[in-house]
Amino acid sequence: MKSIVILISGRGSNMHAILDAIADGSLPVKVAAVICNRPGAAGLAFAAAAGVATRVVDHREFADRAAFDAKLAACIDEFSPDGVVLAGFMRILGDDFVRHFAGRLFNIHPSLLPAFPGLHTHRSALAEGVRVHGCTVHFVTPKLDHGPIIVQGAVPVLDGDDEDTLAARVLVAEHRIYPQALRWWAADRLRVEDGRVRLLPPATPDPAVNAAAPALLIAPAAA
Ligand code: GRF
Repeated sequence: MKSIVILISGRGSNMHAILDAIADGSLPVKVAAVICNRPGAAGLAFAAAAGVATRVVDHREFADRAAFDAKLAACIDEFSPDGVVLAGFMRILGDDFVRHFAGRLFNIHPSLLPAFPGLHTHRSALAEGVRVHGCTVHFVTPKLDHGPIIVQGAVPVLDGDDEDTLAARVLVAEHRIYPQALRWWAADRLRVEDGRVRLLPPATPDPAVNAAAPALLIAPAAA
């Protein structure tokens, strides 16, 4: 069974969704450790309570990003994971780090990439007046919030939405697509060709795969 290390910075709800999928038997991976850059993050306590090994690599203890990245990579390598899962990990990782884990480094971003990379994606979506917003799981490349897209979850932007309501709707989709992306990876079904992800057919039919696609709704705002 493949193993993963999950990197978090805060509440860790995506990590929680991954652990839930493992617990219900729908995601056959082992979480070797959860690593957080913030001591005291809520997600750390949750992971520890779930019996997962936890580590803290506090970015404030390092003189520069390269030193932090090197320590973080060494901490991950102690667990020899097959995959490294960024789940609400709020530090930009340098090129050396990304290359070290190339092809097995995943991220979730709360927008339909390539729209709205970076921070404040929900605010930007509202400001632009898009009718559809969502989230993306992708392989990480050195360019921020970029890389071969594995799966996206789309949600409508509704009249009266604010950042919080929109973020909450997107988060529901996040919690569906991250376990799904990892499920495909665990089954060796993901291939990257020319920067695009192809999904190989399942070895045995898996009804959960297609059932996991979030609904897509595109509607104009009421006048
Ligand atoms: C999520 O919206 C994730 O996409 C973004 O930060 C948020 C983290 O949420 N990068 P959580 O820590 O997984 O609850």
